[in-house]
Amino acid sequence: MAFQPKVKEQLRIGKKNWYIAEHPAAPGIPYGQEGRAGVVFQLVNDHGEQSALKVFRARFRLPSLVALSEKLETLANLPGLEACRRIVLTLSQHRELLEQYPDLTYAVLMPWIDGPTWQEIVLDKRPLTKDRALALSCALAQSLTTMEERGIAHGDLSGPNIILPGLSAKYTGGTNPVSLVDVEQMYAPGLEKPASLSSGSAGYAHPQVAGGLWGSEADRFAGAVLLAEMLGWRDPQVCEVAWGESYFDPKEMQQDCPRYRLLTESLRRHWGDGAASLFERAWQSQDLIECPTFGEWLLALPAPEQPASAVFAAARTVAPMGTTPASSAPAESGPLQWLPSARDSFEATFLQALEAYRYKEWARRGNCCRSLCRKRRTTQPAVIAPATCSQRRKSNCGGVHSPPGLGG
Ligand SMILES: Nc1ncnc2c1ncn2[C@@H]1O[C@H](COP(=O)(O)OP(=O)(O)O)[C@@H](O)[C@H]1O
Ligand SMILES: [Mg+2]
Repeated sequence: MAFQPKVKEQLRIGKKNWYIAEHPAAPGIPYGQEGRAGVVFQLVNDHGEQSALKVFRARFRLPSLVALSEKLETLANLPGLEACRRIVLTLSQHRELLEQYPDLTYAVLMPWIDGPTWQEIVLDKRPLTKDRALALSCALAQSLTTMEERGIAHGDLSGPNIILPGLSAKYTGGTNPVSLVDVEQMYAPGLEKPASLSSGSAGYAHPQVAGGLWGSEADRFAGAVLLAEMLGWRDPQVCEVAWGESYFDPKEMQQDCPRYRLLTESLRRHWGDGAASLFERAWQSQDLIECPTFGEWLLALPAPEQPASAVFAAARTVAPMGTTPASSAPAESGPLQWLPSARDSFEATFLQALEAYRYKEWARRGNCCRSLCRKRRTTQPAVIAPATCSQRRKSNCGGVHSPPGLGG
């Protein structure tokens, strides 16, 4: 990846000046998240507005991104599809910028979506409250139902491709608490089939899907696994046995393994037979058509008792006392803030302040958090070699280190 900008480097896009943002936990390091196809940088402008710039690796810089983006734009008002609102940098429109930075050819400017990814929540192993687990699951099911009713599928549903604005400290309600990113392989009537198709991401892919995901039912298996994970995340036992970047070890897909049994029993105990049976049906399916539709999921879930804005208020309060987090990692990728709420006990408030302090110290000493780690792998490959992180697994996380002694 040749584009390695510095913090505050200026990019003039259209009539606006944008600057490469600094990582919130690492002074001097650009805020970028690395994926399979490229790196997504956070940009800020003079008015404090944020945008995301996805810079593709050379082999993903395709002219067809221009036509694709025009079509995706028509989906951007659907819940959770804000990332479809995009501007592609082309020679005809952005010549001066591309002459200066040829690597930005066909890069995509889109809204910045604030919040942790679902992958980060899974890695964190910290349970969600019942209300939040339900609100996130319902928001995801609602979004996917709206899509399937229009014959649309994301095509690579997975933990890193789902951002949870509901869990951001900035969330005020009004928008979907769950947002899908990485939409270049989406299926929709009228969209062209990409030259190379994804068969799904590790931990979410249906083992029987050969030849890639392309069709309106493409999300049914991955979506079922994600919904089961989200619903299961209210149960500390489920969180504790999670494999890593996904709840299931990718080798376990569709196996009658202890993780599958634990999750199904937990779904049955906490959410009833309906949700458990839908997950069983997806897990045992021969193909994607056999998996439940998202409308079926929506019907099986209890309706949330409160609006999302109320459920996610004070998004960063600590886990309730007595639910000891299984891991010591911080809840979000950015630096923790000390945000006591009126409902917190003295003990909870104290622990939260201590956690924020330790996190800050840990970040200051030069350790890395997930997104920072990904960033460093991009900008300073020599600093964090893959082997330096003992917990590193495949996919887009360069390494995960937990600050010592955090949490319970
Ligand atoms: N619009 C966005 N706002 C904020 N973060 C984003 C946005 N789009 C992507 N990201 C982050 O960047 C990561 C990589 O982006 P993604 O589009 O998934 O790239 P890839 O196609 O390489 O997997 C995502 O996992 C997510 O954490
Ligand atoms: Mg991705």
